[in-house]
Amino acid sequence: MVRNLEAKETLSALRQEARRLKAELALCQEQAVLLQRAAAQARESERERLTLELHDGAVQALVSAHQYLAALESQVEITSPLKPLVARALTQVRQALSEARDLINSHPPALPASTLASALESELADFRAGGSCVVEFVARPFRLEPERELALYRIFQEALSNVRRHAQAPRLRVELELTPPHVLLQVRDWGRGFDPQGADAAALGGRGLASMRRRAELLGGRCQLESSPGQGTTVLCQVPAGPWSEVELGAYPDSHRR
Ligand SMILES: Nc1ncnc2c1ncn2[C@@H]1O[C@H](COP(=O)(O)OP(=O)(O)O)[C@@H](O)[C@H]1O
Ligand SMILES: [Mg+2]
Repeated sequence: MVRNLEAKETLSALRQEARRLKAELALCQEQAVLLQRAAAQARESERERLTLELHDGAVQALVSAHQYLAALESQVEITSPLKPLVARALTQVRQALSEARDLINSHPPALPASTLASALESELADFRAGGSCVVEFVARPFRLEPERELALYRIFQEALSNVRRHAQAPRLRVELELTPPHVLLQVRDWGRGFDPQGADAAALGGRGLASMRRRAELLGGRCQLESSPGQGTTVLCQVPAGPWSEVELGAYPDSHRR
């Protein structure tokens, strides 16, 4: 009899506790929804601010650079060695403008070519034309998810821009390999090199090296840099390939194998 009573009391206490927990859970869920909404609003207004900033800052500067270059192009003699350089500068400014406009219009920017290999090849064509560096390029065309391709392309652009600006390299070798489950991108230059631990990189350094690393990490991979003075520099980037597909050689007019 007594035991029965005790059991009943325990049961009723448990039911009460269950009701309390349920109410608490409902409150937490409501708070989570409110927080999510607030976070989405904060993201939206930050995005709006960045869009305005991009539009009024970088885009205006690019538009005016484009005008100057177009004026210059019309003045340069067709036989002048400057002609192709100005034309290339115009193409690059146009590409930067279209990327900035895509960002403003919320389209994710896309690769400026049908495959990563051909996008790299076309950057390298510009690089070759701008100097006397011997360039080797080894790659096969394949497709990855667009964000993955774009991130690898950005990493490559930064590595190449560093070679252009800092390396004074007589020779450059770029390799893009799909070895499932990974993609490997290697940019090796035989230039002047530097001490990655030294004051040089820290003091002079912009955000380039950090952004290459960060982009690789965001893809679940890593980007390493090896360099020493006089020995050149290697950027080695290994990231998960994600879903991928091979591209038939010749399936795209701008795909290459070298
Ligand atoms: N390929 C390279 N050859 C020689 N030095 C390099 C190379 N890449 C990077 N560095 C050195 O590392 C520094 C940091 O590079 P980075 O973070 O990309 O900044 P930034 O290119 O804006 O200077 C550079 O200033 C340069 O001294
Ligand atoms: Mg840099």
